[in-house]
Amino acid sequence: MAKKALITGIAGQDGGHLAKLLHEKGYEVYGVIRGQLEASHPRYVAVKEEMPYVNLVMADLTDLSALTRAVQEIKPDEVYNLAAISHVGYSFRDPILTADVTGKGVLNVLEAIRLSGLEKTTRFYQASTSEMFGGLDYNRPDKGYDEDALFHPRSPYGVAKLYGHWITKNYRESYGMHASCGILFNHEGERRGPEFVTRKISKSVARIKLGLQECIELGNLDSKRDWGYAGDYVEGMWRMLQQDEPGDYVLATGETHTIREFCEIAFREIGIEIEWQGEGPGEIGLDKASGKTLIKINPDFFRPAEVDILLGDPTKAETALGWERKVDFPGLVKLMVEHDLKAEA
Ligand code: GDD
Repeated sequence: MAKKALITGIAGQDGGHLAKLLHEKGYEVYGVIRGQLEASHPRYVAVKEEMPYVNLVMADLTDLSALTRAVQEIKPDEVYNLAAISHVGYSFRDPILTADVTGKGVLNVLEAIRLSGLEKTTRFYQASTSEMFGGLDYNRPDKGYDEDALFHPRSPYGVAKLYGHWITKNYRESYGMHASCGILFNHEGERRGPEFVTRKISKSVARIKLGLQECIELGNLDSKRDWGYAGDYVEGMWRMLQQDEPGDYVLATGETHTIREFCEIAFREIGIEIEWQGEGPGEIGLDKASGKTLIKINPDFFRPAEVDILLGDPTKAETALGWERKVDFPGLVKLMVEHDLKAEA
């Protein structure tokens, strides 16, 4: 009999990659989509068109009864909790909704499993994040954060995710659940939403090349991120749930790059060398050949508190799970720009 997997956040970047992976592995895939959506709603239609093999279930992370009904009906072998309010900047504007969905929502999914009497049989994956480390307690500058590094979240999103992380560990310890947390560093790709910096850049670079846009407005160019390809990361999620014992694993590349470097490589893909001039909010990025301004700073994109640097150490996942990445940093930027050149044409 095919295994059943239930994915919350099916309409998001990772939901799409994971659904495809599990479908290819022969799973019966169920995806939670927000309860108020009609079957004719564009988001519902888009998911159905792209992933006809996913059985969509109406529920909301804030609605324990709907989640419990879904779990009782499906009796999934594996639950992947990917749903969240996941934009860090947005979480400063709506911290309470972020706490309800990104934090307490995790508890609702765990309770739905427990109230259905499936806590000993259903395996659970929680999408924890490198945003929980935050940066202030950066105590392993050479090797990056591993599973034992200190947490110090710097956003309402990071704080809410930390609750989700600990409540998952608590259910593991209290009820013997096979509940694992993947502490994922930034993972990007062609399915990334344009509100995140990598996709904003790749999309804008493509539009500039096609004459559809003049320049990109960005916030902090100097923060550093450990960026991998989302398609590689969902394989790691699945591997966590195939282990005999549950656990916590960092998925990362072990490399960190600035937003500035991402811009430079992305523009190089369309034959433009960027030259930086000025400082602070007055800094601009010019096309070295034509002198045209292609990048400007807009302080609206600065955050009240910033995570300056994220660098992860994936040794445990590589050794214990046999997890490996196929896409490197230049390959990631190239893949995104190439995709957007086609998509925007
Ligand atoms: N979004 C955005 N837009 N970020 C910008 C911009 C801009 O115009 N300009 C500069 N940045 C900087 C942000 O200040 C941040 O330092 C960095 O680019 C990355 O921002 P995001 O792409 O929004 O990602 P994030 O690192 O804040 O969060 C992502 O990664 C986390 C894992 O560490 C999200 O996917 C989170 O959900 C995830 O948990």
